[in-house]
Amino acid sequence: MTELDEKTIARLIEAAAAVRESAHAPYSKFRVGAAVIDSDGGVHVGCNVENASYGLSVCAERHAVAAAVAAGADSLLGVAVVTDTDPPTTPCGACRQVLREFGDLVVISANTSGDRRVSRVSELLPEAFTPDVLTEG
Ligand code: THU
Repeated sequence: MTELDEKTIARLIEAAAAVRESAHAPYSKFRVGAAVIDSDGGVHVGCNVENASYGLSVCAERHAVAAAVAAGADSLLGVAVVTDTDPPTTPCGACRQVLREFGDLVVISANTSGDRRVSRVSELLPEAFTPDVLTEG
């Protein structure tokens, strides 16, 4: 499956919106929820977790990826990111790189008002440094 159907997109947005409620964002107040789907159809979620030592804060997307890897996933098909911004927010640069490690994911950016935009990691991070670079040549 290279594209995500509407039901899957809705499922990912719902999971990301739900986990966003658990965000630990007392400093920025910017709550983010993320949900990734693996190649077996498993959904894994993460929220942003900030720290009083600000630089230790970790984005929602990277926590979702870590949950997927911990569950045994090695290939991801898509990610939904939910914030309350207008327009919806795309993953930060660091998260784009981390997502790209696991495939050219469909990226669904959604907000709590129901708006969404759909893109791909390869659009958001062109000419990426990918795992195959290390095994070629
Ligand atoms: N954040 C994410 O969780 N994902 C992103 O892609 C961008 C930023 C979080 C990090 C921090 O907790 C808050 O949003 C403000 O930057």
